[in-house]
Amino acid sequence: MEKKKSSIERLGLFDRYNLAFLFSSIAPLCVLAYVLLVYIEPLTSETGVSHIFRYLTILLFFLIFLAILGFFVARAATKETVSKLKNYNDQMTYLFDIAQSLSQQSHLDVLLEDIVKCAIELTGASAGLVLLRVDDSETLHFEVSIGTGSIAVKDVQDGQGVAGWVARNRQLVMINDVQDDNRYNGSFNILPNFETSAILAVPIGTATANFGILELLQRKGQPGFTLEDAGLVKSLAGQASIFIQNVRFRNEQQNYFTHMTEILLMAMEGTRQFWKGHLKNTAKYAYLMGKELNLPDSEMKILHYAALLHDIGFVRIDLKHGSLRKNIEMHPEIGYEVIKPIAVWKDVAPLIRYHHERYNGEGYPHGLAGEEIPLGSRILAVAECFDTLTNENSYRPEKLENDQALREIQMQAGTYFDPKIVSVFEKIFNDPHFNPKIH
Ligand SMILES: [Fe+2]
Repeated sequence: MEKKKSSIERLGLFDRYNLAFLFSSIAPLCVLAYVLLVYIEPLTSETGVSHIFRYLTILLFFLIFLAILGFFVARAATKETVSKLKNYNDQMTYLFDIAQSLSQQSHLDVLLEDIVKCAIELTGASAGLVLLRVDDSETLHFEVSIGTGSIAVKDVQDGQGVAGWVARNRQLVMINDVQDDNRYNGSFNILPNFETSAILAVPIGTATANFGILELLQRKGQPGFTLEDAGLVKSLAGQASIFIQNVRFRNEQQNYFTHMTEILLMAMEGTRQFWKGHLKNTAKYAYLMGKELNLPDSEMKILHYAALLHDIGFVRIDLKHGSLRKNIEMHPEIGYEVIKPIAVWKDVAPLIRYHHERYNGEGYPHGLAGEEIPLGSRILAVAECFDTLTNENSYRPEKLENDQALREIQMQAGTYFDPKIVSVFEKIFNDPHFNPKIH
């Protein structure tokens, strides 16, 4: 339970200061004045030294006057300090909130736009922009601009104008009268519709990488930037650098992951067990059923990769040797073993393992039944079957028409397949926009 605060603790910093000043200076002087008038003054009259009392009284009232004057001067100074502290605290809280929201952004263009908006909000600037270095070259490209109007050029070189100077020297620049600064190159006017008087530009980057710059502009006639603005924008740029680096790293990873998956699919389709388009067709039907079931994005992603990789176990099976049936029945378990060690696909592996289980428990490899079979695997079973029935392949030389394939699947609802999933498939099949094949 929260401890109850005393009445003094409940006061703000400013009120506490006033109270402390009153009790430590004015109040003791008032007590002293009272003692002087009530107790000392009669004694001085009796002893005939009243002139000492007069001097003491004058001195005392002078001290009280000074204390009161000091009180008001200190009060004004404290008020300003408290106000600045509160403002600083608000800005730090705002920066902290910004950091939290920026850290969750996964799209670079949106992230950069948010950074510029935050910088404008923090400083009250009229406009802001971000330039990023193109690879490791000396060229900086305009990525985002807010409030500047049209931009005359797309790129700036290192050393060109204020932006180029900041990029080359990796130092903050604050200019409150651009005409007096030789780095401001009037002839190199990149913003024809923006007449600026002040520029605040900071480098974006880490100790090892120089990403670009964040620049804020003040329209002519507006107040310039302050050292406080510079400090805040520098802090923001420091955080922005980390988030930009994270997003780029994630994008590179995603790019690598997508291309490696694509290569894997090509390699799988190159073996004779698969016909062209089978994996992507299965993924497409699974996607449509997942959407119809309103599966969350995280589960849709798992379902997508499970559909693409559902038969990956075949790449480790030599169908020319041993019992064909036994070999085929091994592929879900082998596929599971292949995929399981890959951390990003750990939730994909079980869907692959159970995609040949039957709803009535007569499937393989583990004989699971009903809802013991993961939902994604029940979806995959229908998706894979529809594509297998509607294609010529080693399992079925004559393909069926789409309607016939649907009827076959409907006939197996409750035995091979989950009746609910079959109903979902019927629904997407009857949608006028349903387009069965990718290839
Ligand atoms: Fe399979």
